[in-house]
Amino acid sequence: MNSVGQAEWARDLAQDLLEMTLPRRWAHTQGVAARAMSLAPILGDEADTLTAAAYLHDIGYAPDLVDTGFHPLDGARYLRDVAKADDTLCRLVAHHSCAVNEALNRDLFDALTAEFDEERPELVEALTYCDMTTGPDGTHLDVTERLAEIHSRYGPEHLVSRSITASTPCILAAVQAVEKGLSAVRQGGNL
Ligand SMILES: [Fe+2]
Repeated sequence: MNSVGQAEWARDLAQDLLEMTLPRRWAHTQGVAARAMSLAPILGDEADTLTAAAYLHDIGYAPDLVDTGFHPLDGARYLRDVAKADDTLCRLVAHHSCAVNEALNRDLFDALTAEFDEERPELVEALTYCDMTTGPDGTHLDVTERLAEIHSRYGPEHLVSRSITASTPCILAAVQAVEKGLSAVRQGGNL
């Protein structure tokens, strides 16, 4: 696959996998992709790659793909083995939103980190920002509202809630880094 026009390819793939079976997840996905497109002022040409990753970040929830039950790993393995996506997309999906903490809690840390390297911080942080400022129905949320929403959806004892607690410093740092980049561009008069 050519890296030009990745976002369109990714949208079609994600739509096929999510729209019918998980419509709310598809709504969230479209919201995350819209956030990704809005980061073009700081990402330039890489906004297309980020938008593609945004469309694909949660495909591991699709019933046909579930294997380990850890959606970043299931999604990334599908992209690598079946969809033959490029490495950047596989890595971004594997590590989205500080997934390494949930991998630890699921005893999948070694599998995740052995199979998928980290991508460059600016892209990793940008995807985390997009996911963590978009609610489950695709609308914009502040990161604190988004974290609270995850805790209330899963409940205090759930592995996902515990993992999000562990990931909170990483998530907040990512959001802060992207907001800093956006405000620098705004101050530079480029928006
Ligand atoms: Fe996710």
